[in-house]
Amino acid sequence: MKTAQPITFTADAANALSVVLQNTDYDKLFVLTDETTHELCLGRLEECKAVELAGKITISPTDVNKNIESLSQVWQSLGEGGASRRSLLVNLGGGMVTDLGGFAASTFKRGVKFVNVPTTLLAMVDASVGGKTGINFNGLKNEIGVFNNAVEVIIDTHFLSTLDRDNLVSGYAEMIKHGLISNTQDWAELLNFDLNDVCLDRLSELLRKNIAVKERIVAEDPMEKGLRKALNVGHTAGHAFESFAMSEGRPVLHGFAVAWGIICELYLSVVKIGFPKDKMRQTVTFIREHFGNFAFTCDDYETLYRLMTHDKKNTEGYINFTLLGDIGDIRLNQSASKEEIFEMLDFFREQF
Ligand code: GLY
Repeated sequence: MKTAQPITFTADAANALSVVLQNTDYDKLFVLTDETTHELCLGRLEECKAVELAGKITISPTDVNKNIESLSQVWQSLGEGGASRRSLLVNLGGGMVTDLGGFAASTFKRGVKFVNVPTTLLAMVDASVGGKTGINFNGLKNEIGVFNNAVEVIIDTHFLSTLDRDNLVSGYAEMIKHGLISNTQDWAELLNFDLNDVCLDRLSELLRKNIAVKERIVAEDPMEKGLRKALNVGHTAGHAFESFAMSEGRPVLHGFAVAWGIICELYLSVVKIGFPKDKMRQTVTFIREHFGNFAFTCDDYETLYRLMTHDKKNTEGYINFTLLGDIGDIRLNQSASKEEIFEMLDFFREQF
């Protein structure tokens, strides 16, 4: 996989895409949306003539549809629309669309090119950048997928004005994660941002800096052999919460699960490697205020523990966490015992 993935920041996604199309060798163009981005975002991109004329594929929205059925629908539509190996797929949507679309493109006829045009904060800051593609399978998040870069990622924050509050807040969780693994100044700026009265210009400034944190890490370790695991802060516990919520028929947005996972993993960071308690407290307070609670009882601990054992990052039977000795002091491959994990879940429940 190429290590550098070009990212264009623009106030005019249609124009930026026209430029990309002029510089890309392709025969047919296809645009993948979900029902929501079809309605709210496609019009803005159709100012690019080629998009207006492109084959359109629309799938059902939300992470519960990031599954083999939607994937099969995309493959089928590409096939029926006459896509060849030289075709190009534009993924216009949130992380569900960019992940699934990226995987559909990477596997159709052994791989066609794709461009990501993320429309949610979560997709802009995380999912659309860095080459991870995939779907959920067998009740597990992102269980099937490949690493493959988009030929371009086009970031136009005008799309954020279509977002509801929960989706905006959800994306912000990944920004907090990037702040935690970056430096104290970035982290403090993020906690000082007013999420109750969002200024899109200020958010765009924070976003650029924030995406650069991920870009630096992915450039160094695109295939997640080492440093890229830093991006998993909050995700071992977070993915367990997310899969658990899905299995209970009360799905939660990914970023909410990550924010709750950050509470858990900062607790482990404090007790195992001395992360400063005051910084944990400030982060927990911010998360509690904006993300609320995730309710579960001690009867659910075994299930959550079992879900953590399925995490792709585990090796040799240990549950693997990325913890922090301080802001920016990343400690990879930290394991925790079952007892410590149960204490972590106790701590989480005591916060609410
Ligand atoms: N979302 C974490 C990563 O891209 O590695």
